[in-house]
Amino acid sequence: MIATTYRTRSELIDRFQAALSRDELRCMLHGRRRDERGAFARSVVEGLENDPPKLDCRYLYDARGSALFEQITAQPEYYPTRTEAAILSRHARDIIEATGAARFMELGSGSAEKTGRLLDAAAARGGELTYVPVDVSEEALHAAGAAVAREHRNARVIALNATYEEAFPLFEDLSPLLCLFLGGTVGNFPPPQADLFWTEVTYALHPRDHFLVGVDLVKNRDRLEQAYNDAAGVTAEFTKNLFVRMNRELGSGVDVRGLRHEARFDEAQEQIEIHAHFTAEQSIGVKSLEWERCFEAGSRVLVEISRKFRLDRFPNYLAGFGLQTRAIYTDAHHDFALLLLQRGNRA
Ligand code: AVJ
Repeated sequence: MIATTYRTRSELIDRFQAALSRDELRCMLHGRRRDERGAFARSVVEGLENDPPKLDCRYLYDARGSALFEQITAQPEYYPTRTEAAILSRHARDIIEATGAARFMELGSGSAEKTGRLLDAAAARGGELTYVPVDVSEEALHAAGAAVAREHRNARVIALNATYEEAFPLFEDLSPLLCLFLGGTVGNFPPPQADLFWTEVTYALHPRDHFLVGVDLVKNRDRLEQAYNDAAGVTAEFTKNLFVRMNRELGSGVDVRGLRHEARFDEAQEQIEIHAHFTAEQSIGVKSLEWERCFEAGSRVLVEISRKFRLDRFPNYLAGFGLQTRAIYTDAHHDFALLLLQRGNRA
């Protein structure tokens, strides 16, 4: 794996185009800009000064967080990953036939395990494949990129250590592409952020491109809450790890033993809300910004939301951005769905 670092957006585009044009490259990591820690520090202060206090769930995915999330997906209560994987296996050929895709980008690729099924289906049609996984976790990205390159000999892998927003300008060079956003991760965006995301996706897509999004569907409260409160306590560990990361990277000084993980389904908003509940008074600091705030016992910090969707509404919502739903793939129980989208003709 060859690694390069970029500093500006135009540098990223240049490096990416260079990688695309050099066929001999199988695998390449574009190192993320090095101001991650500063961005994390600013985000924590901004979130904790908010009323009610919150943290950006993107920062859950450091090396340990990504590994913990992989463990969550193996818990018996956490149905989304295995349900989505089954839907993908079942429909991989349909999706490849419908899109004709040979170039893939995956936003938030994680371990990229599910994507293999699509690449297999695409490989069966012959020709060269390009796979561009995008993830903020360098460790997860490195492992996933290397695994895909190993298992798919005819795939060129250009791994990109970046945020989603940084990846949008690269759609153009991959067109016609199939962009994947799996796992129900789009549910982590609060509505205004989701609106912005879909606006940007629509602008980035060309008419022949496709976008495949996985969404978790509204269902019985007990099953939803169990999925985020696994008996083994892995999800609780995942929540606490964000504070462990803050302690390590920002010198936050949080007593992690005084934190409780709390996941509840809000029926009105149709979203899982994950809070860290402080059982004792806690002071949280960000050393580099000389910032500190005290939280009393009983206070809560919102760490993540995970919105659940309805198939009778979501396509209409997307249509509002100019995105047409070409196909919906779901399981027999309608627990989870994959929507294949295309940009409609703009009015
Ligand atoms: C990978 C973001 C979709 O919201 O279900 C799982 C993350 N958090 N358990 C989700 C998560 C706690 C997961 N996503």
